[in-house]
Amino acid sequence: MVNYKDLGLVNTREMFALAVKGGYAIPAFNFNNMEQLQAIIQAAAETKSPVILQVSKGARNYANQTLLRYMAEGAVEYAKELGWEHPQIVLHLDHGDSYELCKSCVDMGFSSVMIDGSSLPYDENVALTKRVVEYAHQFDVTVEGELGVLAGVEDEVSAEHHTYTRPEEVVDFCTKTGCDSLAISIGTSHGAYKFKPEQCTVDPETGRLVPPPLAFDVLEGVEKELPGFPIVLHGSSSVPQEEVDTINKFGGALKAAVGIPEEQLRKAAKSAVCKINIDSDSRLAMTAAVRQVFAEKPAEFDPRKYLGPARENMRKLYMHKIINVLGSDNKAL
Ligand code: G3H
Ligand code: 13P
Ligand code: ZN
Repeated sequence: MVNYKDLGLVNTREMFALAVKGGYAIPAFNFNNMEQLQAIIQAAAETKSPVILQVSKGARNYANQTLLRYMAEGAVEYAKELGWEHPQIVLHLDHGDSYELCKSCVDMGFSSVMIDGSSLPYDENVALTKRVVEYAHQFDVTVEGELGVLAGVEDEVSAEHHTYTRPEEVVDFCTKTGCDSLAISIGTSHGAYKFKPEQCTVDPETGRLVPPPLAFDVLEGVEKELPGFPIVLHGSSSVPQEEVDTINKFGGALKAAVGIPEEQLRKAAKSAVCKINIDSDSRLAMTAAVRQVFAEKPAEFDPRKYLGPARENMRKLYMHKIINVLGSDNKAL
């Protein structure tokens, strides 16, 4: 049993309270490898932004849960070396799908876990989330629950199909479970293809697809029911079109990739939304840089010569998110 406090990590409680009050959101960036982690920490240290390092199922399969946890411990020391005296870094389990998995993360030093029971019947979601909260809170580990199902690319993004969070359920859910934050569904979804072309309009000037707006009425309904309670948005990549263009220019084949427009995320960050999850944008930034090096320097075979530019492109992306979208810069001095 290792407590996250001994690793220099923090939980989300105070961070979220300040973010809700201050009208900004904490970035939750997924990491799977050293270059992503370095880029995240460099950006957070440079901007003095609190940051959440997220470990997903795919990351655990790819890199190993134990190794990722030790990398996060190293990240705290790295942040200090970069001159960030009091790093505010959370190590968070993304989309935990069982009590056992959440417990194993708590026991090995994670400071926050998500138990995603959103696909279960309501009562089962409540029971599972409550069980995780009861265990995690003994060690002051914070817990994110989820209500409402994020639309997959195949799904209709519409309230009629009951994919959005139902504001009338949130008080009951949070009271019964004791969760510290709540992920909600308001029209975001995971991946780089968040909307089907037929759901979008076309910008006549650029010819780019313009997605439908998020369901801010649902968010407002949730805020009214749970004033000041920390809300989380998953699936919040913006799918930067310049990265998509670079990928396609250098041999890629990403067609009609569409994300959440930044101005909508800015608006969300000013509300009770205090954690915004971003993974796909980092994948795009990494892939664009690697493809460019491969295309322009076909004789290059030193991985540092393509992973280095990939890391730098991700660092710039994270800086941009922190400063221009979430507004979390200078909030962890
Ligand atoms: O929520 C999904 C994240 O983007 C992580 O996805 O399991 O493929 O790493 P992954
Ligand atoms: P994106 O696929 O939009 O980056 O969402 C990531 C996410 O929600 C991780 O939990
Ligand atoms: Zn997610």
